[in-house]
Amino acid sequence: MCGIVGYIGHRNAVPVVLNGLRRLEYRGYDSAGIAVMNEDGLSLIKCKGKVSDLEEKINGTLKESGIGIGHTRWATHGVPNDVNAHPHASNSGKIVLIHNGIIENYASIKEALAGRGVAFKSDTDTEVLVNLIEDIKNAEGISLAKAVRSALNQVVGAYAIAVFEVDNPKKVVVAKKGSPLVLGIGENEFFIASDATPFLEYTKTAVYLEDDEMAVVEIGKEVEVRSIPSNKAIDPYVHQLKMDIEAIEKGGYDHFMLKEIYEQPKSIRDTLRGRLLPEQGLIKMGGVFEYREKIVNAERIIIIGCGTSWHAGLVAEYLFEDLARIPVEVEYASEFRYRNPVITEKDVVIAISQSGETADTLAAIKLAKEKGATIFGICNVVGSSIARETHAGAYTHAGPEIGVASTKAFTAQVAVLALMALRIAHDRGVLKQSYYHQLLTELDSIPEKIEKMLESDAQARHISELYKDAQNFLYLGRGFNFPVALEGALKLKEISYIHAEGYPAAEMKHGPIALIDENMPVVVIAPKSGQYEKIVSNIQEVKARNGKVIAVVSNGDSEIARMADHVIEIEETAEVFSPLLTTIPLQLLSYHIAVMRGCNVDQPRNLAKSVTVE
Ligand code: F6R
Repeated sequence: MCGIVGYIGHRNAVPVVLNGLRRLEYRGYDSAGIAVMNEDGLSLIKCKGKVSDLEEKINGTLKESGIGIGHTRWATHGVPNDVNAHPHASNSGKIVLIHNGIIENYASIKEALAGRGVAFKSDTDTEVLVNLIEDIKNAEGISLAKAVRSALNQVVGAYAIAVFEVDNPKKVVVAKKGSPLVLGIGENEFFIASDATPFLEYTKTAVYLEDDEMAVVEIGKEVEVRSIPSNKAIDPYVHQLKMDIEAIEKGGYDHFMLKEIYEQPKSIRDTLRGRLLPEQGLIKMGGVFEYREKIVNAERIIIIGCGTSWHAGLVAEYLFEDLARIPVEVEYASEFRYRNPVITEKDVVIAISQSGETADTLAAIKLAKEKGATIFGICNVVGSSIARETHAGAYTHAGPEIGVASTKAFTAQVAVLALMALRIAHDRGVLKQSYYHQLLTELDSIPEKIEKMLESDAQARHISELYKDAQNFLYLGRGFNFPVALEGALKLKEISYIHAEGYPAAEMKHGPIALIDENMPVVVIAPKSGQYEKIVSNIQEVKARNGKVIAVVSNGDSEIARMADHVIEIEETAEVFSPLLTTIPLQLLSYHIAVMRGCNVDQPRNLAKSVTVE
């Protein structure tokens, strides 16, 4: 949800900021802008559209600059247009600001400022904030940092901001509450960004600001971090990042999404590495099992997440109940946080989030924490807000996921949840030893099986060609593969804009069957499983109504091959791990269909990778 980037130092800020914006474009891409200071004074250029549109508008006109800030927007207040794009300058043009978040009480502040003669050009809450800062600064004759602090103590909402003064372009003031902000610290230079990707090639030394913290970065000085409410100085924790630049580049693939689909053997291996030790019959998960007693003796587990992460939670419900025999509830974080849920100290909550920044998930965690529950986080982004807010947890280690549609993060989440379920089952003594060992070996073989499946995606490509113009799709699955049906449908709709619904296959009779005719492609996820015969019957029901069946089946399944219009084969595996394999062809199907329809698969319309507003 909006990306912010800034630079101050000895390099030319223009390419640093523009390159940073391209890296952050996954966060929002309906408008973009840049403000730099150079020998001509302030240059502020912004426009509706993508970073490439901004570059076109700049057209090489920006002179070498030592300070700059930039923004890529996902609109909240005000439609995407040139005026509403960031940066925003104050009325006098002396203070310039970029913002990711929402100022909830902007309307009353705007009214008060308008009463004092401030004229607003845009519809944004951000322009209100920059003018509030200027108003306070002028009225009290104080420094920019003090005025920012005072203004932030008046606003309600979420923000990551970077702001500088035209008359003193030697420092940038930044602040954070609810939206992410990281500082990169180089030799006599500072980088500011929503995540570390814009500055990885320059420095690996980083400071993640916490909520309610602000900092001043000034050439020749140490970073000065302070608490916004108390103004107390804070000694920041300095991280040494381990991320590589290659991980955030396309590496020869046409799209990040395709690269990330193909990375899954590696990302799952990375997720399992050092944790799954089949020869020793062990699962090691240091972070999670710090709270061993809590999780092993939990009377119930509540899983919260949004979107694809919620789907991973649904797979986990099947895993935990089937293997560890613990009752599980899976909740949309957005519903959980507002429905006054019954939670006690005995409850264990698992929060799943790729970005670790999703506003609803973060708020749900805070609520469960207040009520005394123990919270485990499963996040992909190291150092993210959710990772910091939870009591313990496990990183998925899938590597940066840049494509807006989640692929490798989902399978990594499922892999971590499978590890947890197996380890808890083992510690509770509810699994037969031989079955436990068999499952460890099987889980270890999953990356290799995905590798084999990815060797040929010709079948998914061929089917995509046939159905790319369909208006609707149905996805059906049972048991462990019901969440995969939901995930397959979500993937298709978000990147190809085809309407798609996922259902438990047996539910079809209770309504969706009315939709089936010769124009309805139905993707049925039907690997060999305990419910195989049942899903074969569901396929018959679709065929009896002339629906087109695309079945995802276990290798060599001739029974379904005889009935279905198309089959995509997956490698054999244990039913409990089948979602890790059945997901792959569905990702490929949606990818190819979207590409064939000419859609921007990495940046689908209206979406943003990191949903930091509710
Ligand atoms: C879909 C997708 C979204 C996210 C959701 C939660 O492909 O990516 O549905 O899964 O916005 O995001 P995280 O996992 O970052 O909390």
